[in-house]
Amino acid sequence: MKITVVGAGAVGASCAEYIAIKNFASEVVLLDIKKGFAEGKAMDLMQCASLNGFDTKITGSTNDYNKTADSDICVVTSGIPRKPGMTREELIGINAGIVKTVTTSLVEHSPNTVLIVVSNPMDTMTYLAHKVTGLPKHKIIGMGGALDSARFKFRLAEAIGAPISDVDGMVIGGHSDVGMVPLISHATRNSIKVSEFISNERLEKVKQDTKVGGATLTKLLGTSAWYAPGAAVSGLVQAIACDQKKIFPCSVLLEGEYGLSDLCIGVPVVLGTDGIEDIVEIELSDSDKAHLYTSAEGVKKTNSLLEF
Ligand code: 2OP
Repeated sequence: MKITVVGAGAVGASCAEYIAIKNFASEVVLLDIKKGFAEGKAMDLMQCASLNGFDTKITGSTNDYNKTADSDICVVTSGIPRKPGMTREELIGINAGIVKTVTTSLVEHSPNTVLIVVSNPMDTMTYLAHKVTGLPKHKIIGMGGALDSARFKFRLAEAIGAPISDVDGMVIGGHSDVGMVPLISHATRNSIKVSEFISNERLEKVKQDTKVGGATLTKLLGTSAWYAPGAAVSGLVQAIACDQKKIFPCSVLLEGEYGLSDLCIGVPVVLGTDGIEDIVEIELSDSDKAHLYTSAEGVKKTNSLLEF
């Protein structure tokens, strides 16, 4: 199983590290445009192999896509991260050109790959990947909802006073500070609705804290987060690589599902060897449905800024 991660920055390197530690891949190629950077990160990560007990071979490359050839899964983290106070959408001017170049180069060398897009504004970058690569739609996945759901579970557990392992919850919609839709009515603490434990007011705060989870960290860190994004991507990669048939909220091209078309936005999907094996249409409350539609309008507005 060969995985390529483009972008050896904090998110890409964290993703490569988590993939290696999970030890399901034979090879991870870490590629970056900055001379020697990916090679250095790969070597540093390989020197963890005996310490973290993995056999995955991590190699680095300075912008040589030949090294990525025949990858089963390619992850795109390249592009600039946001600064405090910025929205993800403001990154489109620079990141669209990077993502276009990177995705076309990856698919040229790995025509059968599954592509996972992380670069922001992620839903629009995922849509761009469809437009420029021509990969079958089930092979292009945007990672945002898995990260947002992890932040949602963190905030729910904090509010309830429960261990995070006891909490389940999902965030769908756009991966944006205003477009996320944390599904409170579906969230549980060990199969018990979370509304049994905390008030609606407190649940509303959980929702708001979840939606600005990325911005909160950017304010603290001075740049975008990387541990949880890297871990979230590694979970999608493992589900595909190991054909786990797990459900994650991912940004995928909709063609009528949820009453939406011609955009990529976060909805529950089953992930396996072929990438997106099913788009799961769940019952949504009128309020969640309305939020999803508003979120879709926001994503389409950002998409309209793309120049193909
Ligand atoms: C985040 O929410 C980078 O969009 C990513 O942290």
